Order: sequence, then C-alpha cells, then structure tokens
Amino acid sequence: MAEQLRFDGQVVVVTGAGGGLGKAYCLFFGSRGASVVVNDLGASFKGEGNSTKAADVVVNEIKAAGGKAVANYDSVENGDKIIETAIKEFGRIDILINNAGILRDISFKNMKDEDWDLIFKVHVKGSYKTARAAWPYFRKQKFGRVINTASAAGLFGNFGQANYSAAKLGMVGFTETLAKEGLKYNIISNVIAPIAASRMTETVMPPDLLALMKPEWVVPLVAVLVHKNNTSETGSIFEVGGGHVAKLRWERSSGLLLKADESYTPGAIIKKWDQVTDFSNPQYPTGPNDFLALLEESLKLGPNDPGEKVDFKGRVALV
Ligand code: NAI
Repeated sequence: MAEQLRFDGQVVVVTGAGGGLGKAYCLFFGSRGASVVVNDLGASFKGEGNSTKAADVVVNEIKAAGGKAVANYDSVENGDKIIETAIKEFGRIDILINNAGILRDISFKNMKDEDWDLIFKVHVKGSYKTARAAWPYFRKQKFGRVINTASAAGLFGNFGQANYSAAKLGMVGFTETLAKEGLKYNIISNVIAPIAASRMTETVMPPDLLALMKPEWVVPLVAVLVHKNNTSETGSIFEVGGGHVAKLRWERSSGLLLKADESYTPGAIIKKWDQVTDFSNPQYPTGPNDFLALLEESLKLGPNDPGEKVDFKGRVALV
C-alpha cells in the first residue's frame, strides 16, 4: 500500500472548525498524526451568538478515533488566544488554517456599516491576529505553513456580497505578502477559494449539486500545501472543490506604453484602447519590478498622437 502523507508531531490550528470545511480539516489532520487545536466560536453563519458545543463535538470525534485534539472557543478577532492554546497544550504551532467565516449578504444599496465591519473583523482581522501571533514561532523554528481562505466572490465579485468579496480578496493580498516575507524562514503561505457543501451554501444550491461538493474534497489540496515537503509552492491562489483543483494568477494585457508628457491626453489613450485590453500576448506579473522596466522603456518614446476626435467605443469624441 502507498505511504500516507503524515503530520506526526506537528500542531495544527484550524479556525472556525466546528462544522463545514474546518471540521473536515481537523478530522483529517487528527487522523494523520497531528495534534489539532479546534477553534470555533459556535456562532450562527451571520456571526450571532456563541456556543462551546461546535468545537467540543469535533474534539471528541478526533479523540474517539485515537487522535489528539483540544478545543478553543475564542473569536478569531482574539486570534492570539487561539495560538496561545496551541502553545499551552502542545508546546508549538506548525500549521495555521484560517478558515473561520461568516456571511452578511445584503444588496449594496442596503448595506450598513455593521454588515461591513463585522465581515472585516472576522475574515481580515481574524486571519491577521492568528497569523501575527504564530509568526514569531514560525520564524524561530524556521517552519510554518499558512492557509488563508478566500472565495470566488472575492476573485470575481458577487451580488449581495460587496463586504464579503472585499474581505475575501483581502485574503489574497495578505497571503501574497506573507509568502514573500516568510519564504526565507520556510514559512509557506497559500490561499484557497473553496467550494463545498456547508451551512453557508446549503440554502443557495440544489441538493444534487451539494452532494458533489463534500468539504472532504477540499482537504487533500490543503494537506499537500501545508506538508513539510512543500517548500516552494507559496503565495499561490487555488480554486478547489468537488474534485477540481486549479491555480489562478494575475494576467496583464500586453498593454499600451506612451510617452508621459503633455501629449499624454485622454484622446491618446482612447486611440489605442485595443492595446490596453489586448490579452493575446499576456504577461503574468508577480511584483512591481517589471513595471519599473516599462517606465524606463517609456523614456525612449517620441510624443504621442493626441488622437483628436477619436471615438471611444463609438460614443465619445475627446482629446
Ligand atoms: P461554516 O459556516 O460551516 O463554517 C464556518 C465556521 O466558522 C462556523 O463553524 C462558525 O461557527 C465559525 N466562526 C464564525 N465566526 C467565527 C469567529 N469570529 N471566530 C471563530 N469561529 C467563527 O462554513 P464553511 O462553508 O465551512 O466555510 C469555511 C470558510 O470557507 C469560510 O471562510 C468561508 O467564507 C469560506 N468559503 C466557503 C465556501 C463554500 O462553498 N462553503 C465558498 C467560498 C468560501
């Protein structure tokens, strides 16, 4: 039989682990030799209320199967306390899975500050607080693995989710920076946009589709990314669910480069709009350095054609 991917002797913290994806991660890592901190506030999917039951059920299930686990009931807004539990109970922290999440879906027209703020507190501040508290341990031991959780709503936008999509794209930038700062210390950070049947999706998707999207089908990718053998795949975005795994990346059009002087008018851009939006020869930037090279190129260009009476998509004539 093939050898298992194991996590013996390692300590994994999973936030929002009382149900859905978080529970699936915990049961997996608990069965593969890791000690697991099962965090869950026990709130409703809108972030209301709290209960110790959600985390306790998962801890008991891991223990009943012979694994090691401890519960933590803090909100991720106090993520340092969750990491404290890992250190106090197991003496270390190796893997952090920022998974806790809530929804406050509402049309943008009706959105209130409270809907916006609560989403940011749980997703963005929560992921910051746990990662920030784990960071010194990761650096010192020259080992750390982080998974942050984005969403298709963050990558592409979605009706009624202006708050959630802004917070979820925030997870991408956060991960990309942690990846850059952590690499030297063997701290590997990736971000996933999962899709899975859970209480978050069960009201918006039909049962036959939900049956194909078990939370368990998100776990294998996460296991691969946080394993000690992964020392190079970092700062990446993955779409994962129902057996599908794909990496996503930023794509830049071939672009328009003009002389930046007084001839750089709206009309000069409109005239060459096709170049701005031409993806036939794309680039895949991972940082601002190649942009600086472009600036040097622009110094060599001659004055622009101001594009007098240029038509922008047949509607406006501008200079
Ligand atoms: P879920 O509602 O089953 O799990 C989220 C858990 O987070 C709950 O157990 C909840 O009690 C806990 N939680 C909420 N606020 C918390 C707080 N302040 N502190 C600690 N725990 C808290 O939902 P699901 O689907 O398992 O979601 C997990 C993550 O995946 C979330 O970040 C969600 O936004 C994300 N996601 C899920 C998708 C899906 O298709 N299920 C799609 C895209 C993203």
